[in-house]
Amino acid sequence: MMPLFGREHEVATLEGFVDRVHERGEALVVRGAPGIGKSALLGAAVERAEAGRLLVSTASGVQSETHLPFAGLHQLLRPLLGAADQLPARQREALLGAFGMAGTGDPEPFLVALAVLTLLGDAAARRPLLIVVDDVQWLDGPTIEVLGFVARRLRSDPIVLLMALRDGHPTSLDAGDVPELRLGGLAPEAAEALLDARGSGLGVGLRWRVLSEAAGNPLALVELPLALQAGTVADETGFLPLTARLERAFAARLAELPPHTRGLLLVAAANDGHDLADALAGGAMVTGACLTAEALAPALDAGLVELHDQALRFRHPLVRSAIYHKAGRTERLAAHAALARVHERDPDRRAWHRAAAIAHRDESVAAPVCLAYPLLRVSARRGDRAPGRVRRRRAGRGGRAGTAAGRDHGGGDRAAPGGGGQRGAGGRRPSPADRRRAGLRARPRRPGRRAARAGQAGRPRRAAARQGRLAERGARRGTQRRPRTDPAAGHDGRGGARGG
Ligand SMILES: Nc1ncnc2c1ncn2[C@@H]1O[C@H](COP(=O)(O)OP(=O)(O)O)[C@@H](O)[C@H]1O
Ligand SMILES: [Mg+2]
Repeated sequence: MMPLFGREHEVATLEGFVDRVHERGEALVVRGAPGIGKSALLGAAVERAEAGRLLVSTASGVQSETHLPFAGLHQLLRPLLGAADQLPARQREALLGAFGMAGTGDPEPFLVALAVLTLLGDAAARRPLLIVVDDVQWLDGPTIEVLGFVARRLRSDPIVLLMALRDGHPTSLDAGDVPELRLGGLAPEAAEALLDARGSGLGVGLRWRVLSEAAGNPLALVELPLALQAGTVADETGFLPLTARLERAFAARLAELPPHTRGLLLVAAANDGHDLADALAGGAMVTGACLTAEALAPALDAGLVELHDQALRFRHPLVRSAIYHKAGRTERLAAHAALARVHERDPDRRAWHRAAAIAHRDESVAAPVCLAYPLLRVSARRGDRAPGRVRRRRAGRGGRAGTAAGRDHGGGDRAAPGGGGQRGAGGRRPSPADRRRAGLRARPRRPGRRAARAGQAGRPRRAAARQGRLAERGARRGTQRRPRTDPAAGHDGRGGARGG
């Protein structure tokens, strides 16, 4: 197996569990974002166990079987079921009943759980046992409950139970009574080492883009270079291309969300800032509904976005990219057209979104528009391909073109779970555009204050009460900023419905 970069501590922890198995049984839940390396880490424990001649039993949650009670347990126990004959009669009946192999009627959950514990204990008495359960978020509920029951009772039996669970999926393991290991993004040096070990051959600018966009996520570090080799450097709006695997990992939850939430997220992804009110206003235009912050709740629950004060941020830059890529061209056009209206009092931003809307409609129209300043700003952010003319121009504008007021791909949305260091990337100072924007807002607010607050790094996450207040405020603002004219028409008045 390829070495795991930057996970020395975590690997040592799991190997410690395996090495101590003769002394005591233990359980651990490994938590983290998609692609962060949970399965890879479990793989390291399996290697150690095999080297130590432990019996290894594995199972993995499968999305299509989530609604089949005990399907996961069946997967896990199949190799051991031959020994079910030796179980006490009632436990045997309950367990085999759960698998439809005996009796009728509903199996008694406690007896099923007890039977599993007995069966595992008997197996471990013959040979110490490592049980690895991956993608627990997709297991059926009854199986997860049995695993929790077992995890809480491992003491003297030589059994190690390791479970990997993706963020943003509430399960009965959330009670906190099973020890957890949280995986955050790789440290910068480890991320660089992983990228370079893959021999991606990227130029300096693109390498920096990949490191920045991956925000320490190993899957992104492995896959982004592949996407770059396969296709374009970045699309007309500056997003890096994604592989299907990345899209699946980062936009997996999107399909479960209500249409209004999806519309809102697309506008937020297309937006060049973090203001919730802007996203709500644009979202209202594209969905035709009066959106409040409530529309965001399913995305917050799914762990796709975070809300701090009035700033809406994606949990990972690639969540944003994946949402943008997954939308059809028509939807993207509508999102940019709506944002051009939302930013109609900011010439730079309005022009940028108008141009992006046009670019999505017709590449040949986009070409001459690309000569306008706002799009040059984007190409300048494409690293390797920035023409000298653009770089000079950026310098000449006092760095303005490089501020987060433009496309905030860098790390503005970076917030790797548990990765305190990553979060700081959101701590940008308010840019001139932020200040200008704030100054244009309704009078009582003092210019720049909101932008400054929105940009503060590492502010602790406020609890539900605050979100309730936000929802109210969002509702008011969202309503105030309802579309003034036909939203689909877009700012250029050429109609938003003909996207493709
Ligand atoms: N620390 C690491 N060093 C090198 N490669 C890694 C590391 N962690 C994960 N990977 C690789 O990144 C990809 C995603 O990791 P994976 O374990 O599948 O993530 P998860 O299970 O959390 O979704 C895999 O190809 C894996 O081999
Ligand atoms: Mg995995």
